[in-house]
Amino acid sequence: MLSTQKNEILIVDDIPTNIKLLHDVLQTENYKVSIAKSGKSAFKKLNKIVPDLILLDIMMPEMNGFDVCEILKQNTRTEHIPIIFMTALTDEVNKVKGLSSGAVDYITKPIHTEEVLARIKVHLALRKTQQKLQNEIAERKQTANELSQTLDELKRTQTQLVHNEKMSSLGRLVAGIAHEINNPVNFIHGNLQHAECYVEDLLGLVSLYQKHILNPPKEILDKMESIDLAYLEKDLVKILTSMSIGTSRICEIVSYLRIFSRLDEAQIKPTNIHEGIDSTLNVLDNRLQRNNDYPNIRVVKDYRPIPAIECYPGQLNQVFMHLLSNAIEAINERDTHRSLSAANADPGMVMISTAVRDDRFMMRVMDNGTGIPENVRSHIFDPFFTTKDVGQGTGMGLAICYKIIAETHRGKIWCEPNPDEPGTQFFLEIPLSLN
Ligand SMILES: Nc1ncnc2c1ncn2[C@@H]1O[C@H](COP(=O)(O)OP(=O)(O)OP(=O)(O)O)[C@@H](O)[C@H]1O
Ligand SMILES: [Mg+2]
Repeated sequence: MLSTQKNEILIVDDIPTNIKLLHDVLQTENYKVSIAKSGKSAFKKLNKIVPDLILLDIMMPEMNGFDVCEILKQNTRTEHIPIIFMTALTDEVNKVKGLSSGAVDYITKPIHTEEVLARIKVHLALRKTQQKLQNEIAERKQTANELSQTLDELKRTQTQLVHNEKMSSLGRLVAGIAHEINNPVNFIHGNLQHAECYVEDLLGLVSLYQKHILNPPKEILDKMESIDLAYLEKDLVKILTSMSIGTSRICEIVSYLRIFSRLDEAQIKPTNIHEGIDSTLNVLDNRLQRNNDYPNIRVVKDYRPIPAIECYPGQLNQVFMHLLSNAIEAINERDTHRSLSAANADPGMVMISTAVRDDRFMMRVMDNGTGIPENVRSHIFDPFFTTKDVGQGTGMGLAICYKIIAETHRGKIWCEPNPDEPGTQFFLEIPLSLN
């Protein structure tokens, strides 16, 4: 059988005859009744019970009904309980004052039991409806929150999927190109160094001839003039140097491409990630200390305790290197557009935070550099996407990070604006173990 819970009513009154009358009539109507003979004892009672309704007398010694009502309405535990005042029939001022101090209704003395019961019923029914509505609103809010979280998650997964698809076909293409370019470019680069030596030797020999053969035949003199030997000597060395710079750059790009397309060759090992980040910071130290007047870039670490993580350590170090290099470059870029005093007031900073949540390692790299405009953000993980000047960036850093995190480590990497200031935050998460 279903048991319906009795509604509980607290009577607060100092006059025993009133209390008795109300108590008897409410009990006959099957209400649970509690009694307090003053404001103070009402507060004590309310520490233990939360009644469904309070009948509150106005004229009481020590603390009158208005004060009691006001205190109850300020307390989160009792603010929702409907309060009905009990006041003398003629007392219009008190009725108004009672309602404005938070009561929902009043009954007049001498007490008419039918009136009391009728008013109590109305207010209990109202309270019930109100509670239902509040519960419904809370539930809807909760559902709305959950929906918006799911939507965010979906958006992220969708972006990740699009990237996955793009990256795997690009990966194959890149591997092919890197393989084809690697041999010839190494051949040119290696031989250029020999060529430089030979050219130097030949030019040395020519100048020896010039020194010792003071009157060369006319044919040689004509040739020297037509090829502008003096200019050729100077320019040839310059050309060879710039060719060598060019081939070094191509070798660098090819090695990035090779790393990018055969990332799965290294070993999985339990790794102390903090050591990896610190060693990367060490390598980057000369870029954090600046040799112009601008303040050094501050690194703030918020490392939480994390266990050894089963991962490809060399590859993760590459990710740290790319993220930190980008942060440094973004800070440098911001500084080139602001005054020294502005930079001193708000120096460049990189904050690295780590943590473990559930069975995933999480990391955030936040900088106060230029920030990434929204229209650029959707391209930053694409291979060869760069906003840097020609020769400054290959646009492969984040594409490599993406490959290492999303594919090799089955994790996620994404970027958001820095919430407080200009700048960017990169987030990554990977499972604690790949097995
Ligand atoms: N922390 C950052 N702040 C501002 N922009 C950034 C940041 N990180 C990346 N970017 C943007 O993303 C682009 C791509 O970055 P990515 O590291 O892939 O290439 P890159 O730095 O241009 O060249 P490199 O291959 O030498 O790393 C950058 O050119 C830059 O526009
Ligand atoms: Mg980069």
